[in-house]
Formats: sequence, C-alpha cells, structure tokens
Amino acid sequence: MPDRRQLLASALAGVASGLARPAFAQLAAPASAPFPKGFLWGAATAAYQVEGNNVNSDVWALEHMAPSSFSERSGDAANSFALWPEDLDLVKRLGLNTYRFSLEWARIEPARGQFSVAMLDHYKAMIAGCRARGLHPVVTFNHFTTPIWFAANGGWSSPEAPGLFARYCRRAAEHLAEHIAYATTLNEPNLVGMLEVALPGGRGAKLMAADKAMAAAAARAYGVPLFLSGNPVYVPDRFAVQANMIAGHKAGREAIKAVRADLPVGVSLAMNDDQAAGADTDMRDSMRAQLYDPWLEAASSDDFIGVQNYYRAVWSKTDKLPAPKDAVLNEGGSEIYPASLSGAVRYAYSKCARPVFVTEHGTDVADDTKRAWLIPAALAHLRRVMDEGIPVFGYIHWSLCDNYEWFQGYKPKYGLCSVDRTTFARTPKPSAAVFGAIAGRNAI
Ligand code: BGC
Repeated sequence: MPDRRQLLASALAGVASGLARPAFAQLAAPASAPFPKGFLWGAATAAYQVEGNNVNSDVWALEHMAPSSFSERSGDAANSFALWPEDLDLVKRLGLNTYRFSLEWARIEPARGQFSVAMLDHYKAMIAGCRARGLHPVVTFNHFTTPIWFAANGGWSSPEAPGLFARYCRRAAEHLAEHIAYATTLNEPNLVGMLEVALPGGRGAKLMAADKAMAAAAARAYGVPLFLSGNPVYVPDRFAVQANMIAGHKAGREAIKAVRADLPVGVSLAMNDDQAAGADTDMRDSMRAQLYDPWLEAASSDDFIGVQNYYRAVWSKTDKLPAPKDAVLNEGGSEIYPASLSGAVRYAYSKCARPVFVTEHGTDVADDTKRAWLIPAALAHLRRVMDEGIPVFGYIHWSLCDNYEWFQGYKPKYGLCSVDRTTFARTPKPSAAVFGAIAGRNAI
C-alpha cells in the first residue's frame, strides 16, 4: 500500500516554476491570539504502522508477495503493541493532551465473524491508559489495513463490505466506546482509487501496474478472484468502491452511535490546499469535486469533519504545477507550504459546515529544523482561519514517532520522536519541544 498522497505530491516535485514563495528563513510564525480553552493538542499513530507483527492484515500479506511494491517489511514496527504505555507516557511528557491511534481490525476480527475479546481488552487498556494520564483518546476504527479475509472477499468492492464494517464497528464500540473521546470511522477513504484522477495524463500508470500485479499474486495465493486491500492503488471499479466506503462510513457511524449516542463520530479526509494558478479555476475545481466533494457531502451529518493535510496543489488549466524554485522541500522533494493546512480547512468547512478537527498534519523530513519551523507557521495560519469564524477544535500532528510508512518502509521520517529500530527506544526531536510548548501555552 503506497502512501498515495506522497506519490501524488512527488510526481512533479522539485521542478522549477515561477510560483513565488518566501524563503524558509524569513518565515517565522507571526504572533496570534491564544487558542480556545480546551483546544485539543495531539500526536497520531496508526496501529499497523507502529504495533508490529500484524500478521492477519492485508498489508502483511502483500509485503510477503512476489512481486511486492513494498520496499521493506513492517516486522516489529515500533513494537507499540507491547510498548503502548511508553507511547502514552511520551505524549504526556511532550505536553500534549490528546492521542490519536487506531484499532487493528484484523486483530479484533482475525477470522470473519470471530471476535477476539483479548484484543478488544488490549485497546480498552490503551483507552483507559489515556484517561489515566489525562489524555483524550481519539480512536480511528480503521486506518487503511483490513483483515486478510476481508481483502480476499474483494475488500471494499464487495457489496458485503459496508455491513461487515458496521458489524465490526458495533462489536468494537460495545467494548470500547464508553471512554473514547472522539471516534473516526475511516482514514482518508476519499483517495482510494483516485490515483488516475490526481495524477492526470497516465503518470500513475507504472504504480498502478505494480499494484495490480501484487494484488493478482495475492489473489492467486488465496485462491480468490480479487484480493483488494484497504488502501489499494489499483482499484477495478473506483465508483463501486467509493459508494461502498461511503455506505460503510455511514453504517459504521450509526453502529457506533447505537452503542453511545453522545460519542462524537467523524471521518478523516486527505485534503490538499488546491489553488488555481491563474483566473481559470476549472482544473482546480474539478479536482476538488472528484477528490473531496462526495465525502464532504457524506460527512455533512457527522459530528465533526476530520481534515488531514500535508501539501498544497497548484493547478494550471490542464495540470498540476511543479514546486516553486525556492520551495522548502521534504525528503520526497515536495514543497512544504505552511499555509496549506488553513487552505484545506477553509475548503472543507465551505462544503461541510461541521466543526473541524485536524486529525493529521506533518511532513517527512530528516532535518527536524524544518518540522520545527512548519508547526508554528502552519498553526499561525490555522489560528487566522479560526478568526474567520471556522470552528476548529483540535490539531493532531502526524506522527508521534517515526514509523512504517507503507510501501516506502522505514525511510520517511514523520515523527516528533525517533525510534531506535533495535532497542525501540523513543527519543524526542527538538520539534517535539516546539510543539509541546505551543500546547502548554495554548498559543503560538
Ligand atoms: C496517513 C498515514 C501516513 C501519513 C504520512 C496519512 O496519509 O494517514 O498513514 O503515514 O499520511 O504519509
């Protein structure tokens, strides 16, 4: 499972263009008003990316296929399945008040219809551990990976998918909902099958072909007509998958609400800050209409809208423009643009007038000074958006620690903390102190 968003961003990265942007050094975060009392300041992880040894998950199977698009295997990851108390201590020590993590569906329902009380107890202990430390637990019911049996059943392309997801949500909520602070159903479902849209002109063809070959190998291995993972690049019928995922989100939300009506439930969407390079906004508008609008519509009766932003995308009449010549770049060669978060939030709210929760924002940089610069700069823009009247109630940084970045393996560094891959020792980076101080002051 590639990180589709990074693929989309890097496709044109690093090429010179005339877009103006200020130099990195000049971009100190301007002063701004404090954030509202009770604002949520958090860090995020996802189960598959940090727990390790999720042997019943679709990506584990794909990592072991031949051919496989995964550059390395997840293995022990950050060993958070065992070390979650240390993770929670870390969040607390950084000065944050919120931890976003996900449930691994394949641990909870390793075989169709067979639920594991022991695994549910594991997540229950994590939720209680958050509460014991004064942290708000924000729980993602499904962050990309699905059980192998679900993928072998055609994944989200199966008409059974929404019902299967809702049953899992119901069972998990019955065990866990009582002490969850906020729940999201799916993570970035709006990008599934969208590679050909977001990378126009056939530029995603190679990736698509590799993913298709890997999925075909998995289908052969499991003796099924289609093995569709939870976050595929190649999707046979993206419209059917989108419809099923939207139905799944709604049914999942209802299932959670049936257990605890007052638990706020939403969905997290991947959103660029899409801009039009000139007066012609058609291409920009068409991207927004395809990539976000069906989901912003689907989320319009949710309790909040989860926005996840990493990039801006500047569209000409026909295509995405490359990064400006003087852009600050991440490791993938894409522009780091601090105002992109506020732009994405503004668009989300314009189409879905629900309270906004920034459930992810971050960047892949080996040079942590770039992250330390990005966080206050982006938050200053976010604070300004709130002055415009957009109700944002929390900001969660991706990620608490360096982790398994899907098909790119362990190379990308999104963490506020590094992880020694042999001892699993976590070490906060300087950007964590910058972020923690903002959280502590509740102001930039
Ligand atoms: C995903 C994470 C991923 C992060 C950085 C988000 O799209 O939710 O799983 O690691 O971005 O690429």
